[in-house]
Parts: sequence; C-alpha cells; structure tokens
Amino acid sequence: REEKLKYIREKIRPFPDFPSKGIIFRDICPILKDPKALSTVIDLFEEHVRQTYPDVELIVGLDARGFLFGPLLAQRLGVGFILIRKKGKLPGPTASVGYTLEYGKAEAEVQEDAIEPGQKILIIDDLLATGGTLYAACELMKKQKAQILGCLVVIELTDLNGADRLKPSPLFSLVHF
Ligand code: PRP
Ligand code: HPA
Repeated sequence: REEKLKYIREKIRPFPDFPSKGIIFRDICPILKDPKALSTVIDLFEEHVRQTYPDVELIVGLDARGFLFGPLLAQRLGVGFILIRKKGKLPGPTASVGYTLEYGKAEAEVQEDAIEPGQKILIIDDLLATGGTLYAACELMKKQKAQILGCLVVIELTDLNGADRLKPSPLFSLVHF
C-alpha cells in the first residue's frame, strides 16, 4: 500500500502561483495520463470502501474533477453514480445549495429524483482544500435526505483544515500535502 501511495504522490505535479500568486496548484492530469496510476487510485478507494462501507448504495461525484474518478469507482463497486453540478447544467427539477469560494459565490445542484430518502452515499472529489465545496455537497445531500457515509478525495491539503468542516462525516484521502 505504501508503494502504491508513493507512486500516486509522485504523479501529482505542483504548479506554483496558479491560478493566483501564493497558491501551489496540485495537478492530477499525470495520474489520468498513466493507466497504472489511475487504476491504483481506484484500487485504493475500492479497498477502503469495501472494508469500511460495504453497504454503500451510490457514489456522488462533484463537478468537475469528481467526475473523473467517481464513475470508475462506482463501476468497480457495482453501484450507481450521480452528479452534483454547478448551477444551470442539469435538466429537470433540481435541488440546490449556495456556498462561498475563495473569491465569490457558487451554487451546486442535483436532480431532485437522483436520490431516494435514506440511501447510503459516498461523496467523491479530486481534492479537499478549504472544504467549502464538499461541505456544500454534504448540505445538499442532507437536504435530499441521503445518508452520508463519508467523503473520498485523492488529495487533501492538510494545512487548510478542510476535514474539520466536514465533521461528523469522515474523510478518506490518499495523498496529503
Ligand atoms: C476545486 C477542486 C475541488 C475544490 C476544492 O474545484 O476540484 O472541487 O476546488 O476546494 P475547497 O475545498 O476549498 O472547496 P474548482 O472549484 O476549482 O472547480 P472545477 O473542478 O470545476 O475546476
Ligand atoms: N489543485 C487543484 N485544485 C484545487 C487546488 C489545487 O491545489 N486548490 C483548490 N482547488
């Protein structure tokens, strides 16, 4: 497992001062370009979910980079995948939640009939920074009466303490910076 985590960690490219000065952007594109790295990410998520949440019913992915990992994991687990999208992208009746980003505001939406009350879900994204995005996703899922088992990310930026914002939902992350 340590070997696998090291392999993934080395595939994440740091870009200093992107998208603005002082931010080190952690780029996951090299993971997607390397089939071994991508399948290792999914292997590690699958192993954790099978051990910890064998009764999960749906994987919920966040726009946009949660969509890169979520469906692959859902297929491995034999469960469905649903999307939380930025405002105005999903057809039909939707439920929404507002949230604050580093600069400005955003809104996330899900189709109203995507989740049955009480369904056991895991929420997935590529990266946790301040936790604002995943926190909003949790609020939206609570509004839809889902039972949130936990959150999954490839990368956790630990200095920003995003995991604290998600409490009591547990966070599982593969690589820490
Ligand atoms: C990034 C990242 C997470 C979020 C993390 O997405 O993919 O979703 O920010 O930040 P937070 O923990 O501080 O909320 P971004 O909002 O840049 O959107 P994108 O995936 O559409 O590029
Ligand atoms: N990388 C990718 N996405 C992000 C980051 C980062 O470092 N910080 C906030 N969103």
